[in-house]
Amino acid sequence: MSLQFELRANPHPRTDAERGAVLADPGFGLSFTDHMAVATWTASDGWHDSAVVPYGPFSLDPATAVLHYAQEIFEGLKAYQHADGSVHLFRPDQNAARMARSAERLALPVLPAEDFLASIDALVAADRAWVPVHGEQSLYLRPFMFASEAFLGVRPAQRVTYCCIASPAGAYFARGVHPVSIWISTTYARAAPGGTGAAKTGGNYAASLVAQQEAAAHGCDQVMFADAAEHRWVEELGGMNVYLVTTDGELVTPELNGSILEGVTRDSILTLATEFGLTPVERRISLEELVEGVDSGRVAELFACGTAAVVTPIGVLQDASGSHVVGGGETGETTAALRKNLLDVQYGRAEDTHGWLRRV
Ligand code: COI
Repeated sequence: MSLQFELRANPHPRTDAERGAVLADPGFGLSFTDHMAVATWTASDGWHDSAVVPYGPFSLDPATAVLHYAQEIFEGLKAYQHADGSVHLFRPDQNAARMARSAERLALPVLPAEDFLASIDALVAADRAWVPVHGEQSLYLRPFMFASEAFLGVRPAQRVTYCCIASPAGAYFARGVHPVSIWISTTYARAAPGGTGAAKTGGNYAASLVAQQEAAAHGCDQVMFADAAEHRWVEELGGMNVYLVTTDGELVTPELNGSILEGVTRDSILTLATEFGLTPVERRISLEELVEGVDSGRVAELFACGTAAVVTPIGVLQDASGSHVVGGGETGETTAALRKNLLDVQYGRAEDTHGWLRRV
C-alpha cells in the first residue's frame, strides 16, 4: 500500500518577514523550510509512519549505525516557480530511480517511486511559500535515507529513516555563474571499480573533501577526479559531472563506468546536444587528451553540470604542470546556450518537449 504524507503543521512557522529575509538572498544550503517529510522502515514492518512534520533535529542514539558505518544515501532535485505561479519539479522520476539504485548498492530498503514522489509533492505543497520567485532561484530538495538502528554489528540496519528537507537555493558557487577553476587531483581518487561511485552516498562526498581542500590550497574552486586504477581517465568533479565541447562539434562526457554518478543534468544535456547540432559522445577521456586539447584549443569549452551547479563554465584547469586556460577563460557560447535552454525548460520559459516537468 502506498504511503500517505499527511501534514502535521508546524505550530511555529517562520514569519513572513523571516521567510522574506531568507528568500532575498538564499545562498546554497544555508536555510531550511518549516517542514520535512519523514518515513520509517523496519525489517519487520516495511515502510510506515510517513508524514510531513515540523522541520527539526533528529534525536540519535550514539550507537546509531549510520554514525559508524555510513550506511546512507541521498538525492538532490529542485522545484521551480513559473511565471503563472505554478510549481514544477524537473525529472523527479529519475531521482526516484537513482535513489532505488543507490539503496540497492548500500543494502538499504528501496522506497517505491510513488512514495518518493508523494513525499516531495506533500513537502512542496506544505512549504509552497518557500519556493523562490526571483531570477534563477529554486527550492532545492534533499531526500535522504540512513541506517537509524542503534547497533554496532556490521550488517545492514534493520531500521532505516527516510527524510526529505527543502532549502531555498541560489547559485551553488558563491561567485554565481562565472567560470570556475579546477584542480586535477592525481593524489586522490573519489571511487574505485566495484565501489560505490555510481551511488549517491555520503561516503563518496566524504572521500572528495581532502581533495577539495587540495584544490583550494592551489587556489581552485573545484577538484577533478581521475579513475582510481590508473589515475589516467577523467571521471567527475567533487559533486558534479563534466563535459567538454570540441571544435569539431562534439559534446563529450566520460562514459558511465560504475564509478561515475549518473547525473540527471548530465543525462538531460546528452538529450539536448543534438538539438544544438552537437554530437553527444560518451567515452573515456584521458587527462593527457584533456589538457592537450585545452592547450591546443581543440577543447573549446569545458563545463561542470549537476542539479546544484546547473551548468557552470570551467575557465581554467590546473595541475602539477601549471595552468591551462579554457577558451580564453570566458563562458563559451555552447555552455551558455545549454545552460539557458535547460533553465528555460525548468522555469517554463521554453516548451517542455521531453515531458521533463512534473507539476506539484
Ligand atoms: C546536487 O547537485 O544536487 C548534488 O547533490 C551535489 C552537491 C555538490 C550539492
